[in-house]
Amino acid sequence: MKQVCLGFLGCGNIGGGVYRLLGEMQETLKERDNISISVKKILVKNIDEAVAINEKKGLCVPRELLTEHAEDVTGDPAISIVCEFMGGEQPAARFMQEALAHGKHVITANKVALALNWDKLQAQAEESHVGLWYEASVGGVIPVIRVLNVNLESDRIDRIYGIINGTTNYILTRMAQEGKDYDEVLQDAQRLGLAEPNPATDVEGMDAAYKLSILASLAFHGRVTYEQIYREGITQVSAQDIAFGREMGYTLKLLGIAKKDGDVVETRVHPTFLPSQHPLARVDGSLNAIFIHGTYCRDMMLQGRGAGDMPTASAICGDIVEAALTEKPHYPTFRNTAHPDPAFTFTDNWQTCAYIRLSAVDRPGVLARVSECFAKESVSIASMLQKEAADEGRANLIIITHPAPEQSIRRALSLLDESICRLEAMIRVEQE
Ligand SMILES: NC(=O)c1ccc[n+]([C@@H]2O[C@H](COP(=O)([O-])OP(=O)(O)OC[C@H]3O[C@@H](n4cnc5c(N)ncnc54)[C@H](OP(=O)(O)O)[C@@H]3O)[C@@H](O)[C@H]2O)c1
Repeated sequence: MKQVCLGFLGCGNIGGGVYRLLGEMQETLKERDNISISVKKILVKNIDEAVAINEKKGLCVPRELLTEHAEDVTGDPAISIVCEFMGGEQPAARFMQEALAHGKHVITANKVALALNWDKLQAQAEESHVGLWYEASVGGVIPVIRVLNVNLESDRIDRIYGIINGTTNYILTRMAQEGKDYDEVLQDAQRLGLAEPNPATDVEGMDAAYKLSILASLAFHGRVTYEQIYREGITQVSAQDIAFGREMGYTLKLLGIAKKDGDVVETRVHPTFLPSQHPLARVDGSLNAIFIHGTYCRDMMLQGRGAGDMPTASAICGDIVEAALTEKPHYPTFRNTAHPDPAFTFTDNWQTCAYIRLSAVDRPGVLARVSECFAKESVSIASMLQKEAADEGRANLIIITHPAPEQSIRRALSLLDESICRLEAMIRVEQE
């Protein structure tokens, strides 16, 4: 029977979940695959504290497995697979690099360290003839990395839409269902442990942008770096706009969008209205989903739990078994460098429809002045709705545009005369 020793870097939610699941899998692995997988060392910050936390969680990790020194994991010759569950860019990326340099397969769930150091980690893995697995870095248990990297490798993917951050999807879902404002729902999410005490990484779209850079690189076979992704979070979204949008047939989601048309690539993360009948519009709560379009696969959608210790552990254990059994690791086929692929032309002038809410003085002639501004930039209006506003003498004017270049929409908005017509919200709409 093949004996495989693992080392863990970090043992919080995910490390604990993987430890538990490996325990449950032992018998199956022995019978089915003739392998025995055991954890030999676990890096923690403080052994005494880790023992106390594990006891509280009911996680039976023997004290002798714990170490406070990374090299006990990354440099131990008996360990063949290092699993990184620390989070954050550094020192996680450095430790993974060291493990790879010592000829160990590396498995990570860490999108930040991967998105920012992928080139170096892959180069080191290739040099050492070992593998780098990261299925849980995007979409938790959803097997989207394998689908893009292996199953659809021969297809030509031209569009990806992803709900790839559970915290923001949870907040937007509750705002839509309960008509509550952002701050109130965020506080609730924090109380329930669904949002961090400092929620910036999630609500400002960084987390989704790290993940989108990984997905887009795999899908388009070229490096899309984090810096290349336009980003807007959900902090300015109001329950009122969600409700007006719904009345017009749209549902709001924080989407990661990546499109490729010839050499032109656009990558962006922002709140987006989708037609309410779109399959992504029905992905609620903390669920994640990724919608993919390709020349041959056409439309497909993967949906599931994007977070949580056991769903994520399930994806990671899949990577562990693959690493334990693999003879020849598979690397993405694109040239993985620190820079955006020079064959791509990145654009910030994508075609988009827009939902625009204006607070307009309620008197004749205002509509004509607004229409004039849009006409000057050749932005045509698809529909318009007038609603009462809280301010006396004003009305909410809601416009949905036809597709137009992003910059033309922005220029049209800059032409509005603020004294009669104030911009309150601009949310992009995908009519897909
Ligand atoms: N949670 C999820 O549902 C989920 C889903 C998908 C992917 N992921 C990814 O999985 C990774 C782990 O997430 P998690 O939720 O398990 O986080 P977590 O509960 O905070 O666990 C991380 C653990 O690593 C420890 N750690 C951090 N730096 C360390 C260092 N230098 N030396 C030793 N130990 C160190 C932390 O100790 P302290 O607590 O003392 O800092 C903590 O125990 C992250 O990359 C995350 O993005 C998480």
